[in-house]
Amino acid sequence: MWAALWLLCAGAWLLSARATTELTVNAIEKFHFKSWMTQHQKTYSSVEYNYRLKTFANNWRKIHAHNQRNHTFKMGLNQFSDMTFAEIKRKYLWSEPQNCSATKGNYLRGTGPLPPSMDWRKKGNFVSAVKNQGSCGSCWTFSTTGALESAVAIASGKMLSLAEQQLVDCAQNFNNHGCEGGLPSQAFEYILYNKGIMGEDTYPYRGKDGHCKFDPQKAIAFVKDVANITLNDEKAMVEAVALYNPVSFAFEVTDDFMLYQKGIYSSTSCHKTPDKVNHAVLAVGYGEKDGIPYWIVKNSWGTNWGDKGYFLIERGKNMCGLAACASYPIPQV
Ligand SMILES: *[C@@H]1O[C@H](CO)[C@@H](O)[C@H](O)[C@H]1NC(C)=O
Ligand SMILES: *[C@@H]1O[C@H](CO)[C@@H](O)[C@H](O)[C@H]1NC(C)=O
Ligand SMILES: *[C@@H]1O[C@H](CO)[C@@H](O)[C@H](O)[C@H]1NC(C)=O
Repeated sequence: MWAALWLLCAGAWLLSARATTELTVNAIEKFHFKSWMTQHQKTYSSVEYNYRLKTFANNWRKIHAHNQRNHTFKMGLNQFSDMTFAEIKRKYLWSEPQNCSATKGNYLRGTGPLPPSMDWRKKGNFVSAVKNQGSCGSCWTFSTTGALESAVAIASGKMLSLAEQQLVDCAQNFNNHGCEGGLPSQAFEYILYNKGIMGEDTYPYRGKDGHCKFDPQKAIAFVKDVANITLNDEKAMVEAVALYNPVSFAFEVTDDFMLYQKGIYSSTSCHKTPDKVNHAVLAVGYGEKDGIPYWIVKNSWGTNWGDKGYFLIERGKNMCGLAACASYPIPQV
């Protein structure tokens, strides 16, 4: 089974290798690829080396072309620079649509004025460190623990580190699928009905599907209620982040997002519908720069991706469906 899967993947890159053989890589690109390989501790077989070099050169050119144009965000090299988007999708993003449809949420928006900006990272120790999901589509578990870690910290002043692996292994009965995907709202429901989640120390992250090893004695965080935000009500997301808690949301990652480095991400290639979202993250604040409103978002691809593990994305347009399934937990403390 694993051998078959491996063959499938290897076959895919050999095929794409043929498609990119036209590209002639110059000495500068070769030089940068070698230093990128050193930096990321990469080694390849000689067949794969040529394919990766060409893929890297393709990305390198894309970055330079993009950065020369007047975009609100810059691209740069990162851990994904030797991969095509098709490969990235298979490894890091949800393979099938999730049931992302909090059509009518239970979160009721008020009418009061809201501050023009908010950043939970600057309010105190309310946002846990950026983590790394590895090659498993478990972003939804990191979005979930991140939101709950903040909720507990805001309510009690205690910063915990919670167990993503428990969600990967145990939350299937709430329509979650481990490395294949899941939703923060469904994961909060799981934690609520399961009566707790363990800490990273007693249930460490492994980045692959496994058997459930939940031990109720070791649960350290609990959910009292789940706030679901109504489909496409981005204003309610703003209010929730302004007044209560960082908010988990999902959106559609497309090709141009992978090489994001800094600035306000905005895309014309992504969709806005709930069936297209393929990645979950955590909004920890918002603001506005040069007339463009944005969200401040924590990702789970490590601190070397994007802006120290974070990105900004344009706010107010349901960009890439980001207002399709937003939620946050109310902790039991
Ligand atoms: C670049 O974009 C900014 C903001 O969108 C705009 O104000 C400015 O006029 C643009 N400059 C050029 C040279 O297109
Ligand atoms: C969506 O919900 C249905 C009904 O609850 C369930 O059978 C299905 O597995 C869910 N799909 C995903 C991707 O979670
Ligand atoms: C919130 O969303 C989850 C999963 O999408 C759902 O199971 C739950 O019933 C919703 N809660 C409320 C109060 O609507």
